[in-house]
Amino acid sequence: MSTSTRSATPLSIAILAAGKGTRLKSQHPKVLHEIGGLPLLAHVIRAATAIAPAGSIYCIVGHEAERVRRAVAHYGTQFIEQREQLGTGHALMQCREALAGQGAVLVLSGDAPLITPETLTRLRDFHLAQGAAMTILTAEPPAPFGYGRILRQPDGEVSAIVEQKSLAPGQEALREINSGTYVFDVAKLFRYIDQIKTENPHREFYLTDIVAILRRAGERVMAVKAENWSEVLGVNTRGELAALDALLRRRKAAQLMNEGVTIFQPESCVIDQDVQVGPDTVVGPFVQLLGSTCIGSECKINSFSVLTNMRVGDGVMIRHGSVLADSVVENRAILGPYCHIRPESHIGEGAHVGNFVEVKKARLGRGAKANHLTYLGDAEIGEKSNIGAGTITCNYDGVHKHRTVIGKGAFIGSDTTLVAPVTVAEGAYVGAGSCITKDVPADALAVARAQQVNRPGWAKARREKIKKDKD
Ligand code: UD1
Ligand code: MG
Repeated sequence: MSTSTRSATPLSIAILAAGKGTRLKSQHPKVLHEIGGLPLLAHVIRAATAIAPAGSIYCIVGHEAERVRRAVAHYGTQFIEQREQLGTGHALMQCREALAGQGAVLVLSGDAPLITPETLTRLRDFHLAQGAAMTILTAEPPAPFGYGRILRQPDGEVSAIVEQKSLAPGQEALREINSGTYVFDVAKLFRYIDQIKTENPHREFYLTDIVAILRRAGERVMAVKAENWSEVLGVNTRGELAALDALLRRRKAAQLMNEGVTIFQPESCVIDQDVQVGPDTVVGPFVQLLGSTCIGSECKINSFSVLTNMRVGDGVMIRHGSVLADSVVENRAILGPYCHIRPESHIGEGAHVGNFVEVKKARLGRGAKANHLTYLGDAEIGEKSNIGAGTITCNYDGVHKHRTVIGKGAFIGSDTTLVAPVTVAEGAYVGAGSCITKDVPADALAVARAQQVNRPGWAKARREKIKKDKD
């Protein structure tokens, strides 16, 4: 959005987000349900902050207000509380003081997440040019059921909005719907808003009733039709939530493919809005790329891998079924299949993390290898070290976590347990099956296991004794 669009006329924005969302049958507030990996309300706030500073945006919160506030606090908007949720008209009544003295207010629905800044700018500009008391964003979706319908006069101005439940016979055929997005002249809105009554099936203050009230007062109510009807779709049911989520993810996959990413069977992948992927990276079917994940170019991310808030360099191979979160993987590392990288880990350049290896808060240096069946927690693994199959860092004593440090080029034999805090210095060698409880000096060999005893003929003698006892 250009700065000129932003500064042309100061505009306040009110986002209605206090409702419970009864039709979702949920314990959680409707506007915190997610599509594309972000709460519905966050999508709306993002569109709003693209055309107005966060300080002039008011989120009207009510049902679970504190939770809603916390979830979107980082956007820096203002909040107004609607203690009882008595309808969309009542929600806007709560803004009277905050908006006093303002020219125009743009009203958005916290449950209509696909709205774009471009459409909002068009709506605002049209409203200001017309000097109307109210301008409604409308649309003509193929399935208008459930939405309020627009009644137009012959001259094109709007005479009323009729909610689905109040449609008179014949009015169901009306195709033009109310998007729940409006611009008002603030003075006129609050001059008439108290005339809204609760004479409707839900006994609520419907904001939509203001249209007929303004008309009766001789004010003009205009409408602008959205060019793309899908932009105004709202979420009232789980079905609508899933449909909008799918739409966003299809768009995201298309965007990445346009930027040079190969995605096989993109409809099976789950890619969040803010994910970035470099060109010539190949994403297999059924991959999930979530949160703020950022992947370089020329990588391979194979099926059933799930990456959350990951930073991945270039040329990285992530084999099937790997789960990675909140960590960094450097260029040309090879991971999986079936590895688990837990938060605050750092996998160095060209390092290998193989099957059934779990890494937590650990750093693997450049070229280090832990290829099989291993747990590395709270550990520092030096460059080019080799961690044998079945190595376990015993990092937890039941109360505290302790660190394991392994120097450059060390070799840890298979089935070693490293009881932290412990250090195996540079170039040292640990014999297989050792339980290491003391530091190992550089270039030393440590063997910490029972001595092997061979008793010649013992097994044969035993077999013969058993046979004899039976006879
Ligand atoms: C509303 C419109 C309908 C329109 C549709 C578009 C009314 C009466 N109807 O219906 O014409 O086609 O949006 O999506 O306005 N909210 C509050 N406080 C309340 C009640 C609701 O803040 O007391 C918030 C909700 O959290 C929601 C928004 O207002 O974000 C819309 O409310 P909702 O109940 O979803 O209205 P719809 O039935 O969708
Ligand atoms: Mg709604």
